[in-house]
Amino acid sequence: MEKITSLAKRRGFVFQSSEIYGGQNGAWDYGPLGIELKNRIQSAWWKEMTQLHDNIVGLDAAILMHPRTWEASGHVENFTDPLVDCKKCKSRFRSDQIPQENLAAKKCPDCGGELTDTRKFNLMFQTHIGPAEDTASVIYLRPETAQGIYVNYKNIIQSNRMKIPFGIAQVGKAFRNEIVTKNFIFRTCEFEQMEMQYFVKPGSDEEWFSEWRNQRWAYYEKLGVKMDHLRWHQHGPDELAHYAKDAYDIEYLFPMGWRELEGVHNRTDYDLGRHSQFSGKDMQYIDQDAGNERYTPYIIETSAGLTRNLLMILCDAYDEELVTPEKNSGSTEGSGASNTGADDWRTVLRFHPNLAPVTAAVLPLMKKDGLAELAQDIRAELKEDFATDYDQSGAIGRRYRRQDEAGTPFCITVDYQSKEDGTVTLRFRDSMEQIRVPKAELVSRLRQEIKNYKRIK
Ligand code: GAP
Repeated sequence: MEKITSLAKRRGFVFQSSEIYGGQNGAWDYGPLGIELKNRIQSAWWKEMTQLHDNIVGLDAAILMHPRTWEASGHVENFTDPLVDCKKCKSRFRSDQIPQENLAAKKCPDCGGELTDTRKFNLMFQTHIGPAEDTASVIYLRPETAQGIYVNYKNIIQSNRMKIPFGIAQVGKAFRNEIVTKNFIFRTCEFEQMEMQYFVKPGSDEEWFSEWRNQRWAYYEKLGVKMDHLRWHQHGPDELAHYAKDAYDIEYLFPMGWRELEGVHNRTDYDLGRHSQFSGKDMQYIDQDAGNERYTPYIIETSAGLTRNLLMILCDAYDEELVTPEKNSGSTEGSGASNTGADDWRTVLRFHPNLAPVTAAVLPLMKKDGLAELAQDIRAELKEDFATDYDQSGAIGRRYRRQDEAGTPFCITVDYQSKEDGTVTLRFRDSMEQIRVPKAELVSRLRQEIKNYKRIK
C-alpha cells in the first residue's frame, strides 16, 4: 500500500487534503490523473447500471436532506460504532476491532493503558442550517446516497411512468465521521458512492437479490479485475445493517487483506415503510396492470464506493516487472537513457484502456526536424476521440516508463520514417510490443485495440 500511496502522490492521482497545513484526516484530493480515473470508473458504472438497462433511470439528489429523513431511515438511532478511548495514550478504537481480551480487561492494545467503557458514537456529521445554532437548525451531511432515491421514488414513477420492477441509480458524495481512517483512501470521512436501488414486488425480492449479485459480479469481470482477488461474504446476523434482511459483500484482496468493496442488500420494505410512517405520505405502489393492486415495494440495493473502487483499480493494476534486454531489444526503447542493455525494472499500471486516465500518449523521437510539429498534429487528430498526452522531454525509454507508471495503454512514437511514409510506432503498454501503423489508421486501430483488449497479466 505504501508503494501505491507514493505512486498516487508522485503521479498526481491522489493528494492528502490540505497538505500544507499538515493534512486533514479522512479527506483526500484527486489530482489530474485521479479525477480522470474516477470519472471513468463512474462512467463505466453509470453505463452498466443505466444505459444497459431499459428500466433503470438516474437521479442526483441533494446532500442536505430534511433531518426527519434520518430519523425515518433509522440512522439517528442506529448508525453508530462502538467506541473506546485509551486514558493513557489517548488512542481511539472501534471496540469491535480490537482483541476481545483487551476489551474484557479494559487494556489498550497499543500501550497497555486503561480503556474507557464502550460508548455508542453516531457516524453522521451534524451541522446547522441558517444563522441559529440550535436544535431546530440541526441538519446532517448524508451518510449514504440511498435515502435521496427513496424520498424521490414516487416523483420518478410519476414523471417517468416507471413500472415495477425498476431501478434508480445515483452517484454522489457521502460523509461519515469514521473513527479509524487508515489504509489510504479505503475508509475516509468524505467519499463517493455509486448506488442503485431496485424496486420489486414483495415475494420476488429473493430472486432479484440473487440476480443483482450475479450482475455485480459479472461487472467486475467485464472491467478486467483479477477475479481471484474477489470473493463473496454473506453478512452474519451480527453484521446486518438495521435495514437489511440479507446482505452480501463483494470483497477484494487489498494489500492489507480481504476487505469490502461493494454491498448488495435486500432492504425489504423497511425504508419506504418508515418514510411513509414519518412523512404521513402514502409510499405504496399502485399496480395498474394488476387491477390497481397496492403494495409497498421491496428494495434490492447495490452499493459500491466510487473512491474505494478507485483504490481497488489502482491496487489491481499495479505491477512491477523485470524488463529483460530481449524485451527492449529491437525497439525504440533501446534508445532510452534508462536502458543500458542490462535488466531493468518498470512499474506499470495495467488499467483497462476504458479506465486509463490517458488512452494514448504521442511522443516525437526528437524535438527537431519537424518531428515535434508532426506529433502535435497527430495528437490534435486523436484528441476528439481519446484522452491524450504529449511528451517530448527526455530519452524515449524514460518517456515510455513514465507512461507505463500512469497506466497509458498506447504510446505513439513519431520518428524520421513517419515523415517519409506517414507511419508511426504504436507501442503497447502491457507487452511492450511495437508495430508500425499508418497514421491515417490510428483512430480505427486504437478503437479496435480497446474493444478487443484482454489483460495479459
Ligand atoms: N446504502 C448502503 C450503504 O451505504 P455501506 O455498506 O455502509 O452501505 C456501501 O456502504 C459502500 O460504500 C461500501 O461497500 C464501500 O465501498 C463504501 N463506503 C462505505 N463507507 C466508506 C468510507 N468511510 N470510505 C470509503 N468508502 C466507504
